[in-house]
Amino acid sequence: MALFFCDISDFMVKYIIVNTIYKGVTDLSAYKKIKGTQDIFGKEIDYWKYFEEKANDFMGRYAFNEIRTPIMEQTELFHRGIGEGTDVVQKEMYTFDDKGGRSVTLRPEGTASAVRAYIENSLMNMGSPIKLYYNGPMFRYEKPQSGRLRQFHQFGCEIFGTADVLADAELISIAHNLFSEIGLRKYTIKINSIGKKEERENYIKALKDYYGNYLSEMCDDCKVRYENNTMRLLDCKIDTQYAKNAPSILDFLGEESKKDFENLKKYLDILGVPYVVDPGIIRGLDYYNNTAFEIEHELLGAQGVIAGGGRYDGLVSEIGANPTPAVGFAIGIERVILSMKAEGIEVSDESPVDVYVIFSGEEAKKEALEISNELRKRGINVFMNISSRNFSAQMKHSNKINSKFTAIIGEDEVKEKIITFKEMSNGEQTKVEKNWFLEIIEEKLKKQ
Ligand code: HAM
Repeated sequence: MALFFCDISDFMVKYIIVNTIYKGVTDLSAYKKIKGTQDIFGKEIDYWKYFEEKANDFMGRYAFNEIRTPIMEQTELFHRGIGEGTDVVQKEMYTFDDKGGRSVTLRPEGTASAVRAYIENSLMNMGSPIKLYYNGPMFRYEKPQSGRLRQFHQFGCEIFGTADVLADAELISIAHNLFSEIGLRKYTIKINSIGKKEERENYIKALKDYYGNYLSEMCDDCKVRYENNTMRLLDCKIDTQYAKNAPSILDFLGEESKKDFENLKKYLDILGVPYVVDPGIIRGLDYYNNTAFEIEHELLGAQGVIAGGGRYDGLVSEIGANPTPAVGFAIGIERVILSMKAEGIEVSDESPVDVYVIFSGEEAKKEALEISNELRKRGINVFMNISSRNFSAQMKHSNKINSKFTAIIGEDEVKEKIITFKEMSNGEQTKVEKNWFLEIIEEKLKKQ
């Protein structure tokens, strides 16, 4: 036994220690995030903040007001709003009974909630048209893959109270201008008109005649779609060969729908928004009429649709209020960030820490607290040492988190009433009188 302990090598001791720590970590990570969800942190957050800041700024430019609705709603709202025959309602909703026995659903999208809130809070009284936007998590039980999550985030806009396609054009141009401003180039805006209900009924008859010839050769999902959601046949990812020769909805539009679609194109031309007309854009939710559009990023593959929307003039009355024309769209934030990365768009990794304050000793701690407080009052971002680590460990941490300056307060600094600060980009170290420190740092940060 004694021999064993004598022989134990340094390496083995390290191995045992590391292994013990590692075991602790694996025990902890027994809890995993739910499939199809994501933790968003570190560099990833820079992308999110960048996108959200730009998008919020755009909402100001176009005079939209923010709305925040609950992430859960009565299940019936989505059945009614999105449509019984849709994939979302049939297969993808997170629905459960709460402890009071009410059926509740985690929202799979934002439009039905916005409509509910519009009616419930009588937002029409705030003046018409009303322009709302939202940003938040949505939940769909889909098969997770790159760009397809079970909890994902949408940035959406809805306009209530105008039937003029100027509103449709405004929304499409918001998406285009926002995407261009964040640096995206490789996307295509596809627009279509799916007409009014009666026009669609005629179209669906024609589609049934056409697809009826091929149904026996088509996939099982298509056989179900043929009966319940015929227009979705155009969207099948397996039997793609039939869609190209299928009848086009554009040939079934009445005069008014045709005129609206022509006007939409005219306004987009005036606004300098590039688009292609694609009669295959029919959208997956039941509430749409007339304008339907999707924006597809060419580097994302199967999950390339980064935004989609259209007009839904029947939804407000379907949910229970006076008929109110409405139009909107939503951007999938995860997909936009994937597109930014695919196009090599870098976002600034500017450090959020302007000054890292390190100290040693009780007196210095007092000074460090005071200085940090004063810096923060001037709007400067400060990381004050809040662990009891030594100087060199603190300096290493300051380096690691990319602080711009490190303020050093040791015993000498306290005695001499000075502060030493280091400019982290060039390593230059300067001693200044305590009274001047705040001014000098403020000036230096302004120049950076
Ligand atoms: P949607 O096309 O179902 O429309 O979703 C909008 C966007 O959300 C999609 O284009 C996509 O970028 C993103 N998205 C959808 N599902 C997922 C998922 N599982 N994972 C990641 N991203 C996803 C709507 O939701 C409508 N409410 C849009 C709208 C607003 N129409 C009128 N107003």
